[in-house]
Amino acid sequence: MRAAVCDAYGPPDVVGLDDLPSPAVGPGQVRVKVEAAAVNFPDVLLIANEYQISIPTPFIPGSEFAGVVVQTTSGARGFSIGDRVSGTVLYGAFAQEVAVPATGLTRIPDGVDKYTAAAFGVAYRTAYHTLRSVARVQEGDELIVLGAGGGVGLAAIQLGVKLGASITAVASSAEKLDVAASYGAKHLINYTTTDLRTALKQTIPGGADAVIDPVGGALSEPALRALGRGGRFITVGFASGDIPRIPLNLVLMKGVHVLGFQFQDVPPDEFARNEDELREHLVAMRVQPHICAVYPLDETAQALTYVAEGRAIGKVLIDVS
Ligand SMILES: NC(=O)c1ccc[n+]([C@@H]2O[C@H](COP(=O)([O-])OP(=O)(O)OC[C@H]3O[C@@H](n4cnc5c(N)ncnc54)[C@H](OP(=O)(O)O)[C@@H]3O)[C@@H](O)[C@H]2O)c1
Repeated sequence: MRAAVCDAYGPPDVVGLDDLPSPAVGPGQVRVKVEAAAVNFPDVLLIANEYQISIPTPFIPGSEFAGVVVQTTSGARGFSIGDRVSGTVLYGAFAQEVAVPATGLTRIPDGVDKYTAAAFGVAYRTAYHTLRSVARVQEGDELIVLGAGGGVGLAAIQLGVKLGASITAVASSAEKLDVAASYGAKHLINYTTTDLRTALKQTIPGGADAVIDPVGGALSEPALRALGRGGRFITVGFASGDIPRIPLNLVLMKGVHVLGFQFQDVPPDEFARNEDELREHLVAMRVQPHICAVYPLDETAQALTYVAEGRAIGKVLIDVS
């Protein structure tokens, strides 16, 4: 099979293309013919060996895919050859085939195309679990979304609107903010042309109820300062590459809550509820991933570079078929 391969750690252009044997399929696993894969920021970090986990080289990057089941094994219950599925893995998805535990797969609803299915898994699930179970967003809440043009940020805007929040989108360009507005963001702040702290104070004078922060760096503190009493600041990731230090006196004086999002921390009953609600949005096409670029498999390095440089708006995909 054709696969993108990271032979040595470094920037995205270390990733090349190779012919490799089909992946071995263990008990409880299925083999999926990948049709489309989505690029996620952690793919870039794994290739640079800057992620929490180090994968020995050579490895096939890629963590999110949609495709068709081509082989099942004993113990891989619930799936048959020919089923359309999507799923996530730590690595291995930027290839014509991937072997995954059946428990990690989701059946693609009828009427949902391969690009939508591939783009929906990580960003939308991250955003929705964060909004529902950590930020606990309610109808009428004032919500600030940093990285508003990115995968998680744009998903948080679309889904926050569905939850009835009034959203202030923060991003680095007019182009990103235009897309955020097209999905329902009410207020738009370009932090490269205006002082973020002042702009947030003017935009939400009564203070925000929640902040979703997938970026970190210099944006985090002004966003936290914009919270009202009892507000929730949710740190999701550090796409800026800079982990901010927040003065704790702000937390004390403002009476705000600083929380982190990780999938494993969502209580199981809420996790199931959130997944059901998200699937309903997908099936009813109430939420549609914004896909800004689709690359062929042999241009995986270019796709990763696009994401690494923060230029992507919404999701970047690799068409493997
Ligand atoms: N906790 C979790 O379970 C979880 C799940 C998914 C993702 N994440 C993390 O969340 C973060 C965002 O993911 P994403 O998929 O939204 O990423 P993305 O689509 O690449 O968007 C990240 C945004 O960060 C901003 N940014 C600022 N400085 C940047 C830089 N030096 N390089 C790249 N981007 C920069 C960019 O917005 P501006 O141009 O507007 O600044 C960009 O749109 C990542 O760190 C990822 O690892 C965490």
